[in-house]
Amino acid sequence: MKIAMIGTGYVGLVSGVCLSDFGHEVTCVDKDPRKVEMLLRGDVPIYEPGLDVLMARNVAAGRLTFTGDLNAAVDGADAVFIAVGTPTRRGDGHADLTYVMAAAEEIGRALTGYAVIVTKSTVPVGTNAAVRAVIEKTSPEAEFDVASNPEFLREGAAIDDFMRPDRVVVGVTSDRAKKVMGEIYRPLFLRDFPILYTDLETAEMIKYAANAFLATKITFINEIARLCEKVGADVKQVSKGMGLDNRIGNKFLHAGPGYGGSCFPKDTSALARIGQEHAAPMQIVETVIKVNDEIKRRMIEKVMDLCDGSVNGKTVAVLGVTFKPNTDDMRDAPSLTIVPALVGNGARVRVVDPQGRREGESLLPGVTWMEDAYAAAKGADVVVILTEWNEFRALDLARLGGTMKTARMADLRNIYSPKDAEAAGFEAYSGVGR
Ligand code: UDX
Repeated sequence: MKIAMIGTGYVGLVSGVCLSDFGHEVTCVDKDPRKVEMLLRGDVPIYEPGLDVLMARNVAAGRLTFTGDLNAAVDGADAVFIAVGTPTRRGDGHADLTYVMAAAEEIGRALTGYAVIVTKSTVPVGTNAAVRAVIEKTSPEAEFDVASNPEFLREGAAIDDFMRPDRVVVGVTSDRAKKVMGEIYRPLFLRDFPILYTDLETAEMIKYAANAFLATKITFINEIARLCEKVGADVKQVSKGMGLDNRIGNKFLHAGPGYGGSCFPKDTSALARIGQEHAAPMQIVETVIKVNDEIKRRMIEKVMDLCDGSVNGKTVAVLGVTFKPNTDDMRDAPSLTIVPALVGNGARVRVVDPQGRREGESLLPGVTWMEDAYAAAKGADVVVILTEWNEFRALDLARLGGTMKTARMADLRNIYSPKDAEAAGFEAYSGVGR
């Protein structure tokens, strides 16, 4: 199959590279000439484990290329994927569809023969129908179908998620489009990964419902964690006990500083908007959004409490600022709420993150970047674990605490335990929900 991928952001680049690895001929298109140049040089603009190697392999095999020329990429393509950004629109929380619609119009003008226009970007219900209408208007003669093919890629594990998905969801309206999509995902179908064909609206809804459900699961356990603290229970064991019930499952039950990232905050807020617009308010999702914000703020109080009520003049070592490990992504990271609050309350904040510095430097003004956890903790009043990077999971706690002014720890990812901290000589330890 010949495929054009419009947009080389996170989703577009990972999808384009992986589809070329399936043996398809993929051209990735981006409007930003610097990005195209960078990709042509073989540099990957984002940090995603394994992506550089996979990209190089498929470029070398001649199946993967990059261009700024949308017309050339769309010419003769069997499928054109739209993977441009859908940020949250300022003011109303709705997904901003400007880029999707602009791409649709351009694709419409560039079509030379039958192609399936596939939306990968997460878009509100009804957008695929709108994409079809735009293309029909732009080029009434064009022969095409639209398809909705939402992505379920976790940052840091995106290649594995693409190559070994729990399911592939494809919304289509014609057999011809279904055949093209079936051909594209044939390597997965052959290995028995489930492919679910639905109508357009259902496919669009599955993405929002899945992400909102996962955000709800996390928020639920975060709320239980708070209650555990009050009643003296241990949320880690509560999660385990709940998760062993197959109907619940053990995933996404880790209590922490609240969910962040490029998907959950954006998609929950867009779903809430869609509900309001259709007079079917998403009350649970609206509450989840509110509770998640409160959870982030509660983490600030936790650190304050550890510092006898005030961080003013105290040195705080923050380990991890990306929204989760194995990514350099800072979008909606809990650190963006927590770190500025600490700085604002007069703390001297030192920060360590294996990948977060490039983006974090401009987003977190007034902090000092350190090389590693030990350097950050030296002479500090408290250490705060915000992201569970592997390199923070096996620290020599006695060594870490030994050089601190006062050995106190806020472990907001529960990667250590009160016992670990006590054995290492920490005078105070505060996890989440235990
Ligand atoms: C998510 C979805 O998993 C993916 O399917 C979707 O398409 C895009 O959004 P991602 O945002 O990359 O992926 O990260 P994910 O691993 O899902 O974590 C999201 C947030 O939830 C992170 O802030 C993480 O720290 C938090 N989280 C996750 C918890 O606090 N507890 C958990 O148990 C799981």
